[in-house]
Amino acid sequence: MNAFTFYSPTFFDFGENAERQTGELVRRFGGSHVLLVYGGGSVKRNGAYDAVTDSLRAAGIPWDELSGVQPNPRSGLVYQGIDLCRRVGADFLLAIGGGSAIDTAKAIAFGAPYNGDFWDIFTGKAKLEACMPVGVVLTIAAAGSEGSNSCVITQENGAFKWGSPKSDLIRPRFAVMNPRYTCTLPPFQTACGAADMMSHIMERYFSNTPDVGLTDRLCEALLKTVIAAAPRALANPDDIAARADLMWTSTLAHNNSVGIGREQDWASHQMEHELSALYDCAHGAGLAVVTPAWMEYVMSHDVSRFARFAVNVFGAEMDYAVPERTAREGIRRLRVFFHELGLPATLAEIGGREEDIPVMVERRKQKPNGFPFGGFVKIGPDDMAAILRLCVK
Ligand code: NZQ
Ligand code: ZN
Repeated sequence: MNAFTFYSPTFFDFGENAERQTGELVRRFGGSHVLLVYGGGSVKRNGAYDAVTDSLRAAGIPWDELSGVQPNPRSGLVYQGIDLCRRVGADFLLAIGGGSAIDTAKAIAFGAPYNGDFWDIFTGKAKLEACMPVGVVLTIAAAGSEGSNSCVITQENGAFKWGSPKSDLIRPRFAVMNPRYTCTLPPFQTACGAADMMSHIMERYFSNTPDVGLTDRLCEALLKTVIAAAPRALANPDDIAARADLMWTSTLAHNNSVGIGREQDWASHQMEHELSALYDCAHGAGLAVVTPAWMEYVMSHDVSRFARFAVNVFGAEMDYAVPERTAREGIRRLRVFFHELGLPATLAEIGGREEDIPVMVERRKQKPNGFPFGGFVKIGPDDMAAILRLCVK
């Protein structure tokens, strides 16, 4: 295990009626005027918005609102939110929703105190040095932004979908997590969330760092939990036990509990961000396409790790004579699992085209430190193109 630091200061309030504490939590973490950030209306339809605003009212906390966050959140709304935040004098960002609402709130939180274009912080022109406090009321188990140290925004000027620099400053102060609110998710979003949290775990699991027995086993336990819970949540959307498992797994998958002390990969995420930037597909859907292709491409780098994945996560039988066969079986089972969740498997299924592959590679080159990427296997431009070609089937 490598040396590490771990600072995960988010306060989690998990379970039935947790949202009733929102107003008190805002106060406890220093807020006196909230900017509420949410998406296209799901939180109004499922009651989360009413419950949260009731709680703010009860705690005597005034608020202003920024609604209309789209999945793959755009820079335009961040600029609007920064203006609004300064104009009304809000001192606390409160997101209700998923990764898109949370990431918009996070970008406003470090954009508002910065005297310039918030995108400078993404390009590296400016350092992330100050951030307003952010709170979260989570309604979808997926991105893990409720406990993470980063945010992902699409800059409309160029359609670049980039992650912000990682910083503990932007970890939410609190996250209210009532799994009941996730029962209204459409099946496709439930499935995309499952793929995203699995990917967050696998990006950490496929590592070259030796002697990471504890985090290996934690990763396997989380993956098995998703494999058990996601089909149950799809079969019965009101299965609250399955919803609760998925919700807490999404947080543990990405607050780095299972990534400490080990080199991590993140190649599939880097490639997926090019897919969702170009095709505006759901992040989890893009991951379901690209992750198995990445696995196929890099498997020979460490066959025994892939074989362990097949056996410990998917219950495959170990073929000691030909371990590669076991390794391949794990990838096959992952594909089958994604298919059974109703997720896409090919570029075409997310609206992609083989001709766009060079475009995605070129866009990646424009990112600071664009190539090579990937901690497990270094991916250069030709590798990225080859992996994306494996998605054309
Ligand atoms: O906009 P509304 O109407 O709210 O609908 C949303 C949206 O259409 C809907 N939804 C959310 N909760 C619901 C619901 N519908 C019914 N009932 C509910 N309870 O679901 C759709 C997707 O929402 P979104 O917030 O986009 O989902 P998710 O949490 O998957 O977030 C995806 C974004 O997070 C980024 C992704 O790249 C993507 O932009 N990520 C952020 C990370 C981070 N900050 O740490 C890490 C991830 O790897 C990821 O990149
Ligand atoms: Zn992700």
